[in-house]
Amino acid sequence: EKGGYASFMLKEIADQPQAVADTLLGRVDGEGALHLDEVRIPAAELREVDKVVIVACGTAFHAGMIAKYAIEHWTRLPCETELASEFRYRDPILDQRTLVVAISQSGETMDTLMALRHAREQGAKVLAICNTNGSTIPRESDAVLYTHAGPEVAVASTKAFLTQLVACYLVALYLGQVRGTKWGDEIRTVVRQLSAISDEVDRVLETMEPVRELARSLAHHDTVLFVGRHVGYPVALEGALKLKELAYMHAEGFAAGELKHGPIALIEEGLPVVVIVPSPRGRSVLHDKIVSNIQEIRARGARTVVVAEEGDEAVVPYADHLITVPATPTLLQPLVATVPLQVFACELATARGNEVDQPRNLAKSVTVE
Ligand code: F6R
Repeated sequence: EKGGYASFMLKEIADQPQAVADTLLGRVDGEGALHLDEVRIPAAELREVDKVVIVACGTAFHAGMIAKYAIEHWTRLPCETELASEFRYRDPILDQRTLVVAISQSGETMDTLMALRHAREQGAKVLAICNTNGSTIPRESDAVLYTHAGPEVAVASTKAFLTQLVACYLVALYLGQVRGTKWGDEIRTVVRQLSAISDEVDRVLETMEPVRELARSLAHHDTVLFVGRHVGYPVALEGALKLKELAYMHAEGFAAGELKHGPIALIEEGLPVVVIVPSPRGRSVLHDKIVSNIQEIRARGARTVVVAEEGDEAVVPYADHLITVPATPTLLQPLVATVPLQVFACELATARGNEVDQPRNLAKSVTVE
């Protein structure tokens, strides 16, 4: 069943290029147009939408945080992403013009289900992004976009996350396509770039040996910090979550700009800090800001682990360890930048003697509130 891998998690990490391709299958044409027939909400209704609210838990919530950047950029619709467990209890403002997107691998997460029930009671339309055919969340939604990642057995989510991201980008781009925004050409270009992403994920997987070595060398540490900006921030949160759940280590993710507002006080000699660096092309302000963040933390003694685009020379002088990922548009970078963090957490947990498929205290699907 594990296909020769030592754990389901390793297999599922390796499955990701195929999983990502399967999420795109039949939904994209050669012209860069999207065909999402399963989104049965009529185009006229989608054009009426004036706000998008994403609800999810855990790793799916991190996918939703990234989706917010994509949706706001490509559709110019306001979008908020909220933990499903918090959503209901604050009396959220929803009506017929709100599109709620519920993201769930299992389709059975009780917090997410309760959030979507609440949203529908208020008249909002609900689109589910789900991996499990016929599960409760898609059954109770107005429409569903399945991720088609195949069964995910390991408790820690890997291929479900990458495919949730792809589905989120599809929703963002589709809303842009249906509503027509000034980004029409960009949308078609990005759809084509998304079609190439499976090969990029494959390339990342081929270069993971140094990441595994690094993970083993850090197995005795108590704390690892992760920092990122823009879509790199949710990637940092996801890297930290993987390490908590698998390696049982103290791991935290921060928005790089927040460091100076408190967390930088945590930095001490030798503390591993993983930094997700956006592409130096495109939004170069973002890139330059994070390069100065790396300098700041390194000046305080941190051991920097830098995840950056191939050919990004600016980070080299400040990286104690450099992990490179293929060039992608900034918004798509999480698809390649998350993969080394999954491998890192899996290897580190194994080096600490932990069972990666069944971490302590966790269940694959959380059907209680
Ligand atoms: C983390 C993880 C959990 C799930 C969360 C939501 O690796 O697996 O955080 O992402 O429990 O589960 P689903 O997506 O099934 O709603």
